[in-house]
Amino acid sequence: MTQDELKTLVGQAALKYVTPDTVVGVGTGSTVDKFIDALAASGIRIAGAVSSSVRSTERMKALGIAVLEASEVEALQVYIDGADEIDHHGHMVKGGGAALTREKIVADLAKTFVCIADESKLVDALGRFPLPVEVIPMAAAQITRRFAAMGGTARLREGCVTDNSCQILDVTGLRITDPAAFEADVNQWPGVVTVGVFARNKASVCLLGTAQGVKTLT
Ligand code: 5RP
Repeated sequence: MTQDELKTLVGQAALKYVTPDTVVGVGTGSTVDKFIDALAASGIRIAGAVSSSVRSTERMKALGIAVLEASEVEALQVYIDGADEIDHHGHMVKGGGAALTREKIVADLAKTFVCIADESKLVDALGRFPLPVEVIPMAAAQITRRFAAMGGTARLREGCVTDNSCQILDVTGLRITDPAAFEADVNQWPGVVTVGVFARNKASVCLLGTAQGVKTLT
């Protein structure tokens, strides 16, 4: 199966986590696009979706799915999103699509985070995929120096302005052995809007698309 077919598979598999007549949290990316398409085609009636990006909002609206503001809900039963990397404990690296801040906000509203990913995303330790960090532009140079001090190389993602009018640094050369401590540390650096490690808001369950079918990791 191609990577695209695996994404379709997990996008469809995520439908079983959608409870009719509830509001669903929806992430961002090519895998989530498959979920949005499957949801629209499924006929499952939902009360609406809280979206993590302009991209997903536009796709859902085009398919007739009502999109609500995050401020309109107190809690979500489920948040469904992809990942750039996921380890065996559900810790993730996210932000390849530059939507990490809103993704973390919506994930924080949800009781259950369902990660949908093809098997290429499963890693033993986070750090292979360049770590996205959303930053206030004024702080980019200082944050770059801070990563250098811990052995990382931060590069500005050229031409990328986030939905929050900020910039993305992509950091290579890191091996993130304690994701929760790393996330807590980097998050409090001045000028960091969001670090792309999702440890506090980790996946409750991962639907992994493999050649043998969908594996459920908990
Ligand atoms: C966007 C994300 C995505 O979930 C992540 O980049 C995976 O995307 P894809 O499903 O296209 O591989 O974090 O900010």
